[in-house]
Formats: sequence, C-alpha cells, structure tokens
Amino acid sequence: MKRWSRDDIVGAAFTDSASTSHAPIGSYYTDPAVHALELDCVFGHEWNYVGHASEVAEAGAYLVRTIGRESVFVIRDSDDEIRAFYNVCQHRGHQLLDGRGCTNVVVCPYHAWSYALDGALKGAPKMREVPGFDRSDVALAPVRLDVVAGFLFVNLDDAAPPLAEMAPRFEPILRSMVAEPEQLQPVKTKAFDIAANWKIVTENFLEAYHVEFSGPAHRGLVRIIDTATYEFDIDGRTIEYRARGGEPGTLPYDSNPDDAFVDAPGPPFHQVFLFPHMTFSVFPGTNMLFVFNMAPNGVDRCAEEITYFSLDPDLSEPSATAEDFVSEQLNAEDIALVEAVQRGVASAGYRPGRLMVDAEQRAGWGEQFVHHFNTLNLAALERQAP
Ligand code: FES
Ligand SMILES: [Fe+2]
Repeated sequence: MKRWSRDDIVGAAFTDSASTSHAPIGSYYTDPAVHALELDCVFGHEWNYVGHASEVAEAGAYLVRTIGRESVFVIRDSDDEIRAFYNVCQHRGHQLLDGRGCTNVVVCPYHAWSYALDGALKGAPKMREVPGFDRSDVALAPVRLDVVAGFLFVNLDDAAPPLAEMAPRFEPILRSMVAEPEQLQPVKTKAFDIAANWKIVTENFLEAYHVEFSGPAHRGLVRIIDTATYEFDIDGRTIEYRARGGEPGTLPYDSNPDDAFVDAPGPPFHQVFLFPHMTFSVFPGTNMLFVFNMAPNGVDRCAEEITYFSLDPDLSEPSATAEDFVSEQLNAEDIALVEAVQRGVASAGYRPGRLMVDAEQRAGWGEQFVHHFNTLNLAALERQAP
C-alpha cells in the first residue's frame, strides 16, 4: 500500500504555522485515495457523534449511523443500558436495521435470525435440526460507546482512549453551554445532502472570515453577537467560541432573553467544535442547543444533519425562528459556498492561497481554525498510515 508523505496529502505550502501557511492542495478534497485513508485513519480511530441518549429513550429504541466505512447502530436494552453494535448479521452478513425505530428483538430480514437487545442470538429458524449448532456461541459484534453529558459517541478502534482523554475540554465546555445536558430532548432534525467534501463543509463552519461577505443571512449572523466580546480557544480536538449576545431587536431572528438556558454559566453565544466532524452551538435568546454532524458520503459528498435539542418539549416561537434562520437561510448560503468550492478545488487552475491569519493568531476573523482542523486531520492520517 502506498505510504503517504505529508506533502502528498496537503502540499508543501501547508506549513506548520498558521501564520505562514497556504491552504491544502486541491487533491486533498478530491482524491478518492485520500478519502479512503481518512475513512480508515480518521473515522476509524476518532470518537464519532451518534446522537443523544434521549433519542433512544425506551427499551428497544435504536438509531443507525454510518461511521466511516461501517454501519453501526445504538440500541437501549431492557436493563436501560445503551449499547452499540456493528449493523451486521452473524449468519451471512445481511444488514440488520435501518434509520431509527423501536423493536423488542432485532430480526435479520434475510433468514430471520433474531437477536436480543443485548446482542445475544435468541434463535435461528431450524436451529435444532443443525447438529452442534449452539446459539450461545453467536452474538452481535459490539462497538465501543462513550456517553458524555448525555451525548452518545462511538469509536471503531477498541484501543482508543476514552473521549474525555482525547478531548478533555469537551465536557466542561458543553456543561457551561447548558446546565443539565442529560435532560435535553430532540425537537427537530434536518438533513442535507451536500455536494462537497466533508472537510470543506467543516472548514466553512469553523472560520468567520467569510461571514461579512456571503449573503444576507451571513450579514445577519454578525449581529447575533457583541463582536467586542468575541473570544475563542483552540485546544487539541476542541475549538470553543464565546461571545455576549448582540443588541436585542437587531438579531436576525425573534430572540427572547427568557428563552435562554438561563442557568447555564456560559455566555449566550457559545459553540464547541469537536474533531473530526461535529459542532455544538447555542445562540443568544433561544432555548435550543443544536448539533451539526457532518458525515462523509464519498469524496465529494457529505450528509449534514442538524439536530435541535431543548430542555422544553418544544421550541418556543422565537427559537423556532432561530431554527429557521440557521437551517434554511444561513445553511442555504453556506451550502452554495461549499459546493462552489468543491467544484473549484477540482480545477487544474487552482493554486492554494495563503491562509489569512494575523501575526498573533488571535483575531476572530482569522483562518487559524482552518489550519488547526487540517493539522489534526493530517496528524491522524500520518499517525495511522500503514
Ligand atoms: S444473513 Fe441474517 S439470517 Fe441469514
Ligand atoms: Fe457561513
């Protein structure tokens, strides 16, 4: 198998320092071989977002996710424990479940082998007539699951350290965004099929350099925060963004200060990115926390899902306008941007430009976030490359 050098992956002009670096080369976003390496080395060894425990609230409730090359499902068993399994029958390999739902028993659609909620084989048609067949020898293949502040993550690497070790800042940040994250309930999920590499979508999410120039919803985004109070922390696998809210009445949605997670210690605008593909956000004057989950679907497509969670059973009226602003207005502008970038980086005429970063790498508008994200990705690719 080809041994990749750093220059093969991102190009020599992507340097160690954000202050001198150019963007990665076009093939980083378009080469199926780089994508294959990422599926193995990044998605196969990092913690991947699945959802919140409240999305599998009752015994038998399940949720299927694509994690890198694998289909995986989480399911709550009859002892209230949430488990994760590879979504594959241990007979001849048919996939077991699709989407989300609730079941007492997992039955394979092919020959009807049935599995208990803890993964043990319950029965197989005609099993008593097959000499020496012992159903207790058969169980679904488990996947590592970590529950952090009510959110579920899986890791395909059995040797990976727990999420709290790989990203120690994540849980404290999340707990300052919402006081009791375990109590969050999903209120809405929106899915988008985007014709861009997952890294282009992630980079666009991380940097604010484009925000003033990219359409009316983006100009509205500037007003949701008091820019003088904007701060960020880049720390390993997490990037935290914080600010006070913008002037009430000027926000691009109907905010209501009473709707905020009032007992949360953090500021009204608060986001945390968790490598490789997820962002948790709270916007001022809303009673919702929303998660962007970006899962690759081929080298030039990704499945983006935004799930809105609240401590209340429904979004308040003002928060519903914020949801519409994020999902429909802002996201429509961002999708058009990233799809145009995907087409552009595939061009023979693309020569990667300088990342725009101030000398101290402290300006909120800077592209140091893009550099940091790709440094993490590159480290994963270099560390794991065979
Ligand atoms: S493949 Fe599942 S029962 Fe045969
Ligand atoms: Fe944007």
